[in-house]
Amino acid sequence: MGKALMIGAGGVAGVVAHKCCQNSEVFEEICIASRTLSKCNALKEKLDGGKTKITTAQVDANHVPALIALIEKVNPDIVINVALPYQDLTIMDACLATKTDYVDTANYEPEDTAKFEYKWQWAYRDRFKEAGITALLGSGFDPGVTGVFSAYAQKHYFDEIHSIDILDANAGDHGYPFATNFNPEINIREVTANGSYFENGQFIETEPMAIKRVYDFPQIGPKDIYLLHHEEMESLAQNINGIKKIRFWMTFGQSYLTHLKVLENVGMTSIEPIEFEGKKIVPLQFLKAVLPDPASLGPRTKGKTNIGCIFQGVKDGKPRTYYVYNVCDHQECYKEVGSQAISYTTGVPAMIGAAMVMTGKWKRPGVYNIEEFDPDPFMDALNQFGLPWHEEFAPTLID
Ligand SMILES: NC(=O)c1ccc[n+]([C@@H]2O[C@H](COP(=O)([O-])OP(=O)(O)OC[C@H]3O[C@@H](n4cnc5c(N)ncnc54)[C@H](OP(=O)(O)O)[C@@H]3O)[C@@H](O)[C@H]2O)c1
Repeated sequence: MGKALMIGAGGVAGVVAHKCCQNSEVFEEICIASRTLSKCNALKEKLDGGKTKITTAQVDANHVPALIALIEKVNPDIVINVALPYQDLTIMDACLATKTDYVDTANYEPEDTAKFEYKWQWAYRDRFKEAGITALLGSGFDPGVTGVFSAYAQKHYFDEIHSIDILDANAGDHGYPFATNFNPEINIREVTANGSYFENGQFIETEPMAIKRVYDFPQIGPKDIYLLHHEEMESLAQNINGIKKIRFWMTFGQSYLTHLKVLENVGMTSIEPIEFEGKKIVPLQFLKAVLPDPASLGPRTKGKTNIGCIFQGVKDGKPRTYYVYNVCDHQECYKEVGSQAISYTTGVPAMIGAAMVMTGKWKRPGVYNIEEFDPDPFMDALNQFGLPWHEEFAPTLID
């Protein structure tokens, strides 16, 4: 059917590339382009020999002219952005200039301010519409599948959804005292930021990790969950009928939190540049350099993830609750594609989102969050490509 250009060659990109190759009817060709060419070539070497033709390229995605030149050379149907959130806008600019569809998994964050919100990317709506191209924002798991679950709940089970609790549990154990499951810089910026939840039309801020509950997850068991700010709440607050409350919860173990507190207390998580031996360095970037590479956690990580959404609302005038979730096993992922479940649960939906646009199912000029499209073909594809989902109609609720 067509050709995709993938930007980034890290943990998530590895899974996207594997999954594109498993879906060669849609992805006849992929070009893997990133800052470090050797990582692209290593991926190509792993995957060559199947039906999908693979090429590689070097690109600095902070530079729009370099991106435009690459897109013109490769001439893809879509650009799959699995680099870092800092590159979202430059890649969108290059897509606009070349009239190429766009998909990503995380919303734009300026490198010098730990604040992620959609306003920068939503500002491209008119320009994408006029150019006749589609931007699909946030096609990972959370954001991503959580938005598809919400659209599915809205379409099939509710007249009005009043509350959504998004629950992200990782019961995986990699054996290190401290490591992050995806890019450490992005991950630590996210978890050290203030928490927030949406209630009655506004976002209410909390201190980081200030709100804690325990939830007994299917197939995982009871875990401590902490309320975080998370980007999909911003778009769901606008796109779900009747919504009054949205909260996002993530599990953290005590050891992770203790390490994080110490690192924070000594200033290692700061993004303010400091002078070190005559050179400016950002402490958090230095920390990233000494922590285990998330891509190396695959062979060591045992256990499961469970990510899903609990909805409360009304259908035909009656109250209703609904829980939909996916359970993913770290070791099974490693066996299949050579990476742990966090990269897997992000990479599979990124491939599916790109396929939705490429096959025309979700082709609509403009900039859209994932819950704005028909969830049904995406839900089918989740079952087909390794992220099957489960439903409960009387789940335990979170107070
Ligand atoms: N929605 C979700 O559920 C979800 C979950 C997890 C992660 N994510 C997102 O997925 C994305 C990828 O995460 P990851 O864990 O795969 O990160 P990663 O392992 O650090 O990979 C990032 C890749 O981007 C490349 N890159 C960085 N800056 C670049 C630049 N200026 N030009 C070209 N390439 C550049 C890196 O190149 P080098 O190798 O040279 O550093 C690396 O290959 C991130 O945006 C993350 O926020 C989303």
